[in-house]
Amino acid sequence: MTQTATSPPVLHTQITFRSMQPEDLAQAWQLSKDLAWPHRLEDWEQMLALGNGFVATTADGSVVGTLLWWQWGTQAASMGMIIVSPAWQGHGVGKHLMALARQALPGYRLHLNATSAGVPLYEKSGFHSTGVVMQHQGNVSTVPLIPLPEGCRMRPMGAADLGAICAMDQAALKLDRSALLLRLMEDGRGILVDSEKGILGFSFCRKFGWGQATGPIVALDQTFALPMLAYWAGTCAGQFLRVDIPQDETVAGLLDQWGLLRVGSVVSMVTEETENDTSAQSPTCFALCSQALC
Ligand SMILES: CC(C)(COP(=O)(O)OP(=O)(O)OC[C@H]1O[C@@H](n2cnc3c(N)ncnc32)[C@H](O)[C@@H]1OP(=O)(O)O)[C@@H](O)C(=O)NCCC(=O)NCCS
Repeated sequence: MTQTATSPPVLHTQITFRSMQPEDLAQAWQLSKDLAWPHRLEDWEQMLALGNGFVATTADGSVVGTLLWWQWGTQAASMGMIIVSPAWQGHGVGKHLMALARQALPGYRLHLNATSAGVPLYEKSGFHSTGVVMQHQGNVSTVPLIPLPEGCRMRPMGAADLGAICAMDQAALKLDRSALLLRLMEDGRGILVDSEKGILGFSFCRKFGWGQATGPIVALDQTFALPMLAYWAGTCAGQFLRVDIPQDETVAGLLDQWGLLRVGSVVSMVTEETENDTSAQSPTCFALCSQALC
């Protein structure tokens, strides 16, 4: 069906909305490639395997809109990969995809990271901003080791650590991302920092997009997070590495020095705030898993 500037498409007669199927992923991938987003087909496959999605299709079966969402426990979920092809933007496709996802997640607290193009849509869908996520990436140059405090050690993660890292992740993000962390253990490399007192931080590095990505990095404080970040950057020396961090000038400054320059930012948005944990030992997320998965 052809569209011209003088004959805008009529959404309800020309577009069908349905659940995303694995067969849709090649076309979904094309939509993200057209935006110069770095995701590989494998990244889309992994994201759909962990969650659910909707697509908007035209009468000839072309996928012109996508939205993925992930349930993290029974009360919270995140959304991402919300894309409408340029020819169909501004005709309510994004709004309808959001409405379908919200219907599928009744009563859930929703999280997403919004591009500037997405912010108006999400504000109209009941989201408000909570902060900024900075995207750093590049070919890693030399990275000095950052030592851990005495009595702490960094070691590879093992299957027996899953329960402890899930608990730490949940304390930091207020999301039950056990399924994601299990998948990262299988597909990526994980390390943690521990001491006699227990686990003080954990992190992952995996293949993603144009090279490697590190995240999530969760730790009790920077003393434990920065050595893990330096470790991953060191293991990726000479390779392309991406890291998405909540706004933090110390971490951003180090990444810049290592050749991982800030190339963009997104706005973190939620439908509902969680209560701040004021206990001194509450862990913090220093790097996201990805902008889509949070
Ligand atoms: C963001 C995006 C998904 C929006 O989809 P869309 O189908 O064009 O949006 P809709 O037509 O459903 O618009 C929904 C609402 O947002 C508003 N809106 C959308 N884009 C807007 C913009 N750039 N500025 C102001 N308002 C905007 C619309 O006016 C509409 O509100 P209304 O119903 O009250 O008029 C689409 O522009 C897109 O794919 N952009 C590129 C990829 C991207 O950045 N995705 C977001 C990732 S987080």
